[in-house]
Amino acid sequence: MRTQVVIVGGGPSGLLLSQLLHLKGIDNVVLERRTRDYVLGRIRAGVLETGMVDLMREAQVAKRMDTEGFTHSGTVIAFGGGQFRIDFVEHTGRPVMVYGQTELTRDLYDARAALGGKVIHRAMGVCLHQVDTDAPYVTYMLGDTEHRIECDFIAGCDGFHGISRQTIPDSVRRDYEKLYPSGWMGLLSETPPVHEELVYSDSPRGFALCSMRNENLSRYYVQCLLSDTVEDWSDERFWAELKKRIPQEFAAKLVTGPSIEKSIAPLRSFVTEPMRWGQLFLAGDAAHIVPPTGAKGLNTAASDLQYLYHALLRYYQDQDPSGLDGYSAKALARVWKAERFSWEMTHLLHRFPTQTAFDLRMQQADLGFLAENVAAQKVFAQNYVGLPY
Ligand code: APR
Ligand code: PHB
Repeated sequence: MRTQVVIVGGGPSGLLLSQLLHLKGIDNVVLERRTRDYVLGRIRAGVLETGMVDLMREAQVAKRMDTEGFTHSGTVIAFGGGQFRIDFVEHTGRPVMVYGQTELTRDLYDARAALGGKVIHRAMGVCLHQVDTDAPYVTYMLGDTEHRIECDFIAGCDGFHGISRQTIPDSVRRDYEKLYPSGWMGLLSETPPVHEELVYSDSPRGFALCSMRNENLSRYYVQCLLSDTVEDWSDERFWAELKKRIPQEFAAKLVTGPSIEKSIAPLRSFVTEPMRWGQLFLAGDAAHIVPPTGAKGLNTAASDLQYLYHALLRYYQDQDPSGLDGYSAKALARVWKAERFSWEMTHLLHRFPTQTAFDLRMQQADLGFLAENVAAQKVFAQNYVGLPY
C-alpha cells in the first residue's frame, strides 16, 4: 500500500488531522492499535478553546458540538472560604466551549466513517522505518499478517505511550519532565451540575473541581495521593471529601449519585524536543503532556494540528516545504506557553506535601492578588481561553 501521510494513533489528534487532510484531498491512513469502542471508553476533559472549536468546524465535524456543547463565559475560583469569578468574555472577548472530548472523538470517528476514511484498528506492532530518508515506510501487524505502507510523511499522534516519540534517536531528542506528588481522582455521575460554570477550588484538604458534560451529567475531581487506587475511593468517600473542599453554598446543593465512571490520573508536565525528525512529525500527547488543571491537553494538540495541517497543505499544493521545516519551532513556542500556564495554575490550586509554610503563604497571596486585580484576571483569562495560534 502507498499513501501520502501515515497517521499513527486514532485518538482525537490523529482523527482530526486525518479528517482535515482528507477534505483537502491528501490521502492518509490512520493506524490505531485499539478498537473504536476501547478508544471511546476513555473519559477525558471537557473544555475546548475557540481554536479547537474552529478546527472542528473546518473539519466539518462540529454539528453535535455546536448543538449539545455549552458556551461558558467564565469560571469560579474558590479559596480561603470565599470565591470569585473570572469573566473570560469581559477580558478577552471569547468564551470556552464545554463539550466532552469523548463525544468529540466519537464525532470524529463517525465523520471518518462517513467519508470512507481509512482507519485501521487493532494495528499491532507499528514500526516506523527510514524516517530520516525520502522514502519512509511503516509496518504493522493485523493478526498474523504483516503489512507495509510506503508514504511521504508520518504523523505521530499516538499519545504519551506511543511508538513515534521513541523512534526519534536519544541523540536527537531531549525530554523535559516534571512529576507532581499527586493525582486527580475523577468521578462521572448522572446528576445535575452543582453550578452553571466550572468551580475550581483550593482548600486546606487539597484541590477540587466541579465540571460537567450536560445538564444531567457531571464530572468532579479531587486531588488524591499518587499511591491511591480507585478502590480506595468509594462513592461515599468521594462525595464526602468533595463537599469538604468546595464552598459551603455549593456543598449544600450538591446532588450526589452513583458513579458511572471513576479513574485516577497522575499530574505530569512533559515536553519532547524536537517535534520533527526527518519525515516524522509529532502532534498532541505524543509530544507533550500537561497537568489537567488548565484543560490544555487537547487544546494544545489543536494548535499542533493546525500548524501541521497547513504545513502539509502548503507542501502538497505549492510544493513549498517551509511550513514543514518550521513546524517544530512554531508548535513548541505555543506548547511551552501552555505548559507554563498549566504548571502555574496547578501550583495555584493544589496543596502539595513538598509545600513549605512560606510556599503556602505565597500561594494564598497569589490567589488573593488574582481575586482582586483586573490585570491578573485578564492574563489568566487570556491563557485559559487559549493564546493565539
Ligand atoms: N500504535 C497504534 N496506535 C497507538 C500506539 C501504537 N504503538 N500507541 C498508542 N496508540 C493510540 C492509542 O490507543 C490512542 O488511541 O494512539 C492514540 C493516542 O490518543 P491520545 O492518547 O488521546 O492522544 P491525542 O490524540 O494526542 O489526544 C490529545 O486529547 O484525549 C485527549 O486530553 C487528552 O491530552 C489528550 C488529548
Ligand atoms: C473536565 O470537565 O473533565 C475538566 C474541565 C476542566 C479542567 C479539567 C477537566 O481544567
